[in-house]
Amino acid sequence: MKALLLLALCATIISIQCTIFRLPASVKPLRYTVTIEPNMSYIGWQRSSYWGAVAIELEVLENTDNVTLHASEIDIDDTSIRVTSNGRAVKVKNALKVKQDQVYVIELEETLLKNKFYNVSIGKFQAYMSSNSRGLYKAHYSHNGEERVVAVTHFEPTWARYAFPCFDEPHLKAKFAINLIRGKEYNSIANEALQTTKSLGANRYMDVFKETPPMPTYAVAFAVSDFPSTRKVERHRILARPDAFDELEYPLMTSVKALRILEEYIGVNFTLSKMDTFAVPPGYFRHFAMENWGLITFQEDQLRCSNKTNPITLTTITSYIAHEFAHQWFGNLVTPALWDYIWLSESFSAYFQYYIAAKVQPMWRIMEQFVVTVVQGSFYDEQHQGAHPLNFRISRYGQFPPFHIMYQKGSSIVRMMSHFLTDEVFRKALHSYIVEKQFTSVVPDDLYRSVQKTIAEEGIEHLLGGMRFDEVMQTWDSYKGYPIVTVTRNYSSGDINITQRSRTFGDEQVWKIPINYVVSSKGVDFSKTTADVWLINATMALRNMSRDGWVIVNKQQFGYYRVNYDLENWERLIQVLKSDKFGTIHVLNRAQLINDAFYFASIEEIPIDIPYRLAEYLVREKDYIPFAAFYTTLSNYGSIYFGNTKATEKQYFLNHPLSNSIKDEEEEGGYSRDYLIFKEYIRTILANIRADIGTEERPTDTYEQKVLRTELDRYFPYYFE
Ligand SMILES: *[C@@H]1O[C@H](CO)[C@@H](O)[C@H](O)[C@H]1NC(C)=O
Ligand SMILES: *[C@@H]1O[C@H](CO)[C@@H](O)[C@H](O)[C@H]1NC(C)=O
Ligand SMILES: *[C@@H]1O[C@H](CO)[C@@H](O)[C@H](O)[C@H]1NC(C)=O
Ligand SMILES: *[C@@H]1O[C@H](CO)[C@@H](O)[C@H](O)[C@H]1NC(C)=O
Ligand SMILES: *[C@@H]1O[C@H](CO)[C@@H](O)[C@H](O)[C@H]1NC(C)=O
Ligand SMILES: *[C@@H]1O[C@H](CO)[C@@H](O)[C@H](O)[C@H]1NC(C)=O
Ligand SMILES: *[C@@H]1O[C@H](CO)[C@@H](O)[C@H](O)[C@H]1NC(C)=O
Ligand SMILES: *[C@@H]1O[C@H](CO)[C@@H](O)[C@H](O)[C@H]1NC(C)=O
Ligand SMILES: *[C@@H]1O[C@H](CO)[C@@H](O)[C@H](O)[C@H]1NC(C)=O
Ligand SMILES: [Zn+2]
Repeated sequence: MKALLLLALCATIISIQCTIFRLPASVKPLRYTVTIEPNMSYIGWQRSSYWGAVAIELEVLENTDNVTLHASEIDIDDTSIRVTSNGRAVKVKNALKVKQDQVYVIELEETLLKNKFYNVSIGKFQAYMSSNSRGLYKAHYSHNGEERVVAVTHFEPTWARYAFPCFDEPHLKAKFAINLIRGKEYNSIANEALQTTKSLGANRYMDVFKETPPMPTYAVAFAVSDFPSTRKVERHRILARPDAFDELEYPLMTSVKALRILEEYIGVNFTLSKMDTFAVPPGYFRHFAMENWGLITFQEDQLRCSNKTNPITLTTITSYIAHEFAHQWFGNLVTPALWDYIWLSESFSAYFQYYIAAKVQPMWRIMEQFVVTVVQGSFYDEQHQGAHPLNFRISRYGQFPPFHIMYQKGSSIVRMMSHFLTDEVFRKALHSYIVEKQFTSVVPDDLYRSVQKTIAEEGIEHLLGGMRFDEVMQTWDSYKGYPIVTVTRNYSSGDINITQRSRTFGDEQVWKIPINYVVSSKGVDFSKTTADVWLINATMALRNMSRDGWVIVNKQQFGYYRVNYDLENWERLIQVLKSDKFGTIHVLNRAQLINDAFYFASIEEIPIDIPYRLAEYLVREKDYIPFAAFYTTLSNYGSIYFGNTKATEKQYFLNHPLSNSIKDEEEEGGYSRDYLIFKEYIRTILANIRADIGTEERPTDTYEQKVLRTELDRYFPYYFE
């Protein structure tokens, strides 16, 4: 009964949420002038108010009797509304708030005519700064024992309408001229550079900012604070409270490098005249960072660092700077027309987050870490946090698609794209996409057409097996989950069968999967990562490949899929891994084999001994990527890792050769015998690398040694005492 009631309730809520109000297509904003004056008096947790004004120049696309725009929790003085066209006033009949649609409707005495231009100005509105990082929000910090107020914005996805009346849909791009009024003891910043400051008397100063190019409302940003700024390096500055200043050098220099590398890669320079980063004091900003055009906001503690900061945190900071900067093109310059397609912005930025960070810090092997943390991480997340397509149906205001889909899955698919097209063609395609679509808004087909054009120009249709790019991508942008590819060899004929399936979603999803392989008896080359064949049906056969040696599919794990093999091939892989020739298998495929073997054993598709015997090769391993795959995979799929031994795992360890080295009396301390053997197993396979890196930090440590030591201590804290 209860469950049913709940279901009925949910159904009602869902049906309400499904009716997202879309603004009428009758008018289009061209240019805004936004003026805001926040009250910066410190009044603790009480709400602080601000007032503002907005003037919007419109083009009328269809005759209409009203102007409907977004406004939420804003008190508009309707006597201050003026509508004019070239100096002639248009009388306002009525103005009303439609709360459930988050809009404000200005009804007019006369019809606004198609192809004509009008100015709508709202001379006065008032609202409160929020405390939940939506719209214009307030943060505090204390300096020399005094509490100070910081006013700053966060508009993505639909919070601009909480700050000022606007056409708050991403495809309605317009130019923004921002004016901020503040006292002498404060300063202000916005997307573009400061143009002039006018004194208004009574300690009120108005900062007038340069007008932006056409941009989406969600990327608009401004802030009023008394923060000092770092020196300006090229186009970059960071604003932060004084206490943070000893830890801004690294992010500042990383910003300089990341923007330059992006400009070179994309071949389109950054559009605006400056790039500021604003560090929001701890405790107020719910997001890691936000890519507002020309004015990135960061949680202060996610930005500060020094060369004493641990390398994992440094990697995160480097990569998030790259992520937000990539959005300056993907999102700000070329904007998804609907929130349903926000992956066009997020997934590309999440890919360049790593790709560009790897160029900023070439020694850190960030693109190789990507395979473990992002690709393999995404498989896990799609199982445990929900499998969704990239094109995501938004059904309520303020909804954002799941982060693991936009970031992990999306960037894995972008990486796959860059491999089957080759990095060079991928880069050229993105260049022409950005050039063609700059200042406009896009849907996936726009991207696909640009890429197709480049494919034709480069004459590389064969790399897609003769298929069109959109045919391929439509399977990856609209299917849930990821494919499992199974490779079954016939050891007498040399044939190889390749099949695909989705573990959870039946067979209605048949992906177009780029397949490549290494057949050891035919020569081992892991470097060419375009597709050898495309698996476009549930199953296909490769005839007369080889009876001998081993086979690995999905070189460098470039494709967003898992691979299982028949048991004989697993045995042959274990054999080569456990020999001194293990290095002939590419390091990323060593990481892949570990991850896939544990996964397939966890769902009982291969026996439990396969992953554990395979991982024993790590005794010889020196490279930290396979170790990273090992500890993350084991903690995800090895139930014994958390002490909840499955019967098969228990049996495996009780019969393990290492069990001889565990004396019965060691069973004390609440540990079961199988767990003690497992610990011994971990100790054994990590003994060499532990000896190599030692237990204490050394001045000569490489990045990888530091990371590995930290991670081994974190994942296996009780195994080395
Ligand atoms: C700002 O807020 C303070 C505290 O509520 C109030 O005393 C003051 O009058 C406000 N200033 C303006 C200009 O509204
Ligand atoms: C406003 O105008 C649009 C387009 O002409 C129309 O669809 C809509 O119904 C009007 N809204 C109101 C509240 O009159
Ligand atoms: C709208 O206002 C701007 C700025 O005052 C002015 O330059 C422009 O001509 C006006 N447009 C119309 C159609 O009245
Ligand atoms: C980008 O800016 C650099 C330096 O100002 C300039 O040399 C280069 O020509 C510009 N590139 C493009 C594509 O505009
Ligand atoms: C750490 O950073 C400081 C300041 O940027 C620099 O002077 C110093 O040489 C750096 N130390 C190391 C070990 O890189
Ligand atoms: C490969 O597929 C074919 C056709 O589906 C099947 O007859 C054959 O037994 C398969 N071979 C292996 C080794 O599984
Ligand atoms: C493997 O190939 C041999 C020789 O072509 C054939 O006789 C046999 O049926 C195949 N095995 C399977 C399982 O398909
Ligand atoms: C895929 O299946 C279709 C229809 O079943 C078939 O016509 C086509 O030849 C198959 N393609 C390949 C490459 O096996
Ligand atoms: C399989 O390949 C071998 C050598 O690569 C060749 O001698 C043989 O004729 C091929 N068999 C078939 C059935 O194509
Ligand atoms: Zn992002």
